[in-house]
Amino acid sequence: MKENIKWWQKAVVYQIYPRSFQDSNGDGIGDLQGIRQHLDYIQKLGADVIWLNPVYVSPNLDNGYDIADYEAINHEFGDMQAFDNLLTEAHDRGIKIIMDLVVNHSSDQHPWFIESRSSKDNPKRDFYIWRDAVDGHEPNNWGSFFSGPAWKLDTATNQYYLHLFATGQPDLNWENKTLRDAIYKMMNWWVDKGIDGFRMDVISLISKPDNLPDGPIPVGGTYGDANSIVANGPRVHQYLTEMRQQVLNNSDLMTVGETAGVDIENAKRYSALDASELNMIFQFEHMELDNNPNPALGKWNDQPVDLIKLKANLSKWQTELAGKAWNSLYWNNHDQPRIVSRFGDDSPEFRVVSAKMLATLLHCMQGTPYIYQGEEIGMTNATNYHLEDYNDIEIKNAYDYLVIKEQLIDAQTFLKYVHAKGRDNARTPMQWSANDYAGFSTVQPWLKLNNNYAEINVETALADPDSIFYHYQKLIQLRHELPIFTTGEYLLLDSDDAEVYAYKRLTKDEELLVICNFTKEGQIRLYPIPDAAELLLSNYLDDQHELLRPFEAKIYRFKKI
Ligand code: NOJ
Repeated sequence: MKENIKWWQKAVVYQIYPRSFQDSNGDGIGDLQGIRQHLDYIQKLGADVIWLNPVYVSPNLDNGYDIADYEAINHEFGDMQAFDNLLTEAHDRGIKIIMDLVVNHSSDQHPWFIESRSSKDNPKRDFYIWRDAVDGHEPNNWGSFFSGPAWKLDTATNQYYLHLFATGQPDLNWENKTLRDAIYKMMNWWVDKGIDGFRMDVISLISKPDNLPDGPIPVGGTYGDANSIVANGPRVHQYLTEMRQQVLNNSDLMTVGETAGVDIENAKRYSALDASELNMIFQFEHMELDNNPNPALGKWNDQPVDLIKLKANLSKWQTELAGKAWNSLYWNNHDQPRIVSRFGDDSPEFRVVSAKMLATLLHCMQGTPYIYQGEEIGMTNATNYHLEDYNDIEIKNAYDYLVIKEQLIDAQTFLKYVHAKGRDNARTPMQWSANDYAGFSTVQPWLKLNNNYAEINVETALADPDSIFYHYQKLIQLRHELPIFTTGEYLLLDSDDAEVYAYKRLTKDEELLVICNFTKEGQIRLYPIPDAAELLLSNYLDDQHELLRPFEAKIYRFKKI
């Protein structure tokens, strides 16, 4: 990789889901003032950037991903003054803030949609995607990401509108230049405020193909797969190039696109190092390896991931983008279950050691690492939840569809799958202490707490020098101090080893060797390690060389052999 490293290539991002981070005013909902109270904590961890999930005015059908006003703060979180204060105080500490940009769709409560739906000749009609019925049915066979059809008939004008997500999240029509200009104007308004970049929600879906063709219906399914038709659509690169010219070149921003359905070729364009579009993307392939083998059930499953497949996939992204584009590295976010429960082992015996192993594996790769709130203390999936405890629209709609309407699985099986994969696993309130409501709030939080907060919390983690928190802190320090973490070439070792994931990072004169035992059994492995090698970090107190203990992870650094 050539020099001229950008700031965001060396940065580590901390993701905050404001609703669940810290309630400062006793309403059970996290808020901006609550985030301000923990800036020192984020600074202590060492993160350079905060990604804030949506904080805009929203009816909260999908917790802020349905925006009714892009330039105002949802009153539950505070007001614009509170946002400005947060931004200033973060900047005072050298921490940047990137905002969630949700412009594939808006809320149906956005004034644009209210106007658009009012009549066929309203000037905003074409801001959204309207179609006539075909033979008395939806205009095509697309299913929504949140179950059911992706079209809703609006009786006011007797046409259907497209909603790839919930019915309250109508898709914006990017073909319309006036709409695009309005979006760029809004983005520039935020840039002028001094924000440091954008995380772009499902940005790979903004350009719908002409004629909106039907999608393939998965075996046992009812609706066509819209993702495979819409993702990386015909004009998406053109729109992002335009956005770069109209907005992104105006400041030294960091941009990360959430790109459902991306492949390597499109990824190289979205996140090319020449920054003609975005800086990096979130790809989903490694998060889909543990999907249900029955395509009609999609992500709903509770089976472990196959390590050989995981290695092959992560390695593909590492090597294919090297020198051409930039990866983001993530295990967790607000849409994914907790990684220690998913790819590690959250039992009392192995939680700490496996969480550190997973952190090591990810943070030594090439790309920009993301840490999702609570990951740094090893928060787990919430298995104390019953069906009625869930809030997430994806879970509720999937229940109605899979259990009630189609009867593909029974309620017990569904609950088992939701314990393993549901998005609310990530959204349970942040566990700050063993105090009432985990120190998150002084009242019953908006979403039920994970009942393990007395053992797993920030206060306990900070008091223990051997905690997961300090392991993450050390990984961040290493990335900041040693350029090889940013620039080193990635080389997978032993692709068919089903228990241990080992890889190297190489520069012209040094090497990192990263060894991760993915199992709860001891393993014996012999790697060529020079005597002078330095053990940079490990999750055990001593080194037993070829003996790898359960979930052991080690990073060696040495001069090139
Ligand atoms: C992706 C977001 O991460 C998710 O939380 C949301 O539900 C959908 N996009 C729709 O905006």
